[in-house]
Amino acid sequence: MNTPYPVDYEQYWLKQALRHFKTAEVNKAILALEPAVRYLSDQFTTKRSEDFAHYSEDPELLLAYGMFFFPQTYSRVRFPLEELIRFTPWRPKSDAPFQILDMGCGLGAASLSIADFFPGQPTKIIGWDQSPTSLKHFEAIARDRRIDLHTFNKDLHRLPIKVKPHVSDLVLMSFSLNELFQTVEPEISWLESLWSLVQEEGLLLIIEPSLHQTPVRLEKIREFFRAQSNSHILAPCLHSETCPLLKNVKTQCHEVRHWKPPESLKILNKGLFREISLLKFSFLAIQKTTVAPRPLNPQVTRMISPMLDENGKTIFHGCSGDGVARRHEILHRHLTKPERHDLLQVERGTRLQLPDYEIVGKPEAFRIKNIIQP
Ligand SMILES: C[S@@+](CC[C@H](N)C(=O)[O-])C[C@H]1O[C@@H](n2cnc3c(N)ncnc32)[C@H](O)[C@@H]1O
Repeated sequence: MNTPYPVDYEQYWLKQALRHFKTAEVNKAILALEPAVRYLSDQFTTKRSEDFAHYSEDPELLLAYGMFFFPQTYSRVRFPLEELIRFTPWRPKSDAPFQILDMGCGLGAASLSIADFFPGQPTKIIGWDQSPTSLKHFEAIARDRRIDLHTFNKDLHRLPIKVKPHVSDLVLMSFSLNELFQTVEPEISWLESLWSLVQEEGLLLIIEPSLHQTPVRLEKIREFFRAQSNSHILAPCLHSETCPLLKNVKTQCHEVRHWKPPESLKILNKGLFREISLLKFSFLAIQKTTVAPRPLNPQVTRMISPMLDENGKTIFHGCSGDGVARRHEILHRHLTKPERHDLLQVERGTRLQLPDYEIVGKPEAFRIKNIIQP
C-alpha cells in the first residue's frame, strides 16, 4: 500500500516555513527546520524531558512537526484503516454523516487522512487537543479542504463521559496516548469514559509509536476492552483470546511498513539520516458491537516479527487465530530462489493464511510449505 501524500498539505507546510524564515528559497526554509526535527525526533523516541508537553507552542517545533511528522501520520493511519475495510465488517454508515472524534488531534493529519479516504462520505471531525496553536493550523488546513471541523481546547486527562454530541462513529487516538500517559497507566475510569465516547457499532482506533513500553500498554488496554460485553477486537488480533504476548515480553506486536515520503521530507532528512522509508507503529482497533466469539483458527496468523533466513529455513513469528503466538518455518528446499526473495519482502504486521502446517519442536512451532497473503 502506498498512499500518495496530497500536494496541497505539503504546500501548506512549505508556505508556513517560507513565511517563518522570511525567505523565498524552498530548500533553505526546509533545511532550517533540521535542528527542530532532530530535537522532536529524539524527544519522541529516547530523550523525553519534563517540559516536552507543550512543544507545539514553539513555532519551529510546530513547523518541524508539520513538515516531518504530519506526512508520516497521514500515511500511517491508512494501514489499519485499509486493513479494517478489507478484512472486517466495520465501515462508516452510508445513510448518515460520519463523525470522527480525534483525541489529541494536533495538526489533524490522522483524521484528515481518514476523511480523504472516504471521498464521497459526508464527514464531521471533532478535534480535541491541549495546544491552541495546533488547533488553529488544523482549522486552516480543514478550511482549505472544506472539511467540517469543530475543535476544542481540552486536557484529555479529564475525559468527559458520554458528551452526547461528541459520541462518535470513530474515536481516534493517533500517537497521543503515550503523551498523555508518560509515567502512569490510564485508570479504569478513564478507559470507561473513552469507551462511552464510541457510538454503538462505532470504532475505537488507537495508534501508538512502537517504543518499548507502548505495545505492552496496548496489550493491557486490550484486556480491559476484551472484558466489555459490547466490544469486538477487530485488529491487530485475529482472535478474541487473552493476548499471548502479555506472557512473552520478548516479542512485541507492532507493524513495520514501507511508504513513499514526500520530497520535502526527503530533503529535510538529508542531514538527519533518520530511517524515513519505514513507518513503525502498534495499533488497536475495537468495534462497539456484540458478536459471537470467533472460532479458533491456527491457519490465519499475523506476522509479529520480521521474516528472516536461518539455516536452510525462512522463519517468522506469528500471532494466530487460535490465540497462540508461535514460530513458523518454511524449509528452503520447498522454495525457488524468487519465492525465497519474495518471502523476505513480506512486512511485519501482514495477515497471512497457511494452507497447511505440521507441528514441530518444543515449544510448538509450525512447519509450513508456503503462505498466502489474502
Ligand atoms: C505526537 S502528537 C500527535 C498528534 C496527532 N494525533 C498525530 O497523530 O499527528 C500528540 C498530541 O497530543 C496532544 N496532547 C498531549 N497531552 C495532551 C493532553 N493532556 N490533553 C490534550 N492533548 C494532549 C499534544 O498537544 C499533541 O498534539
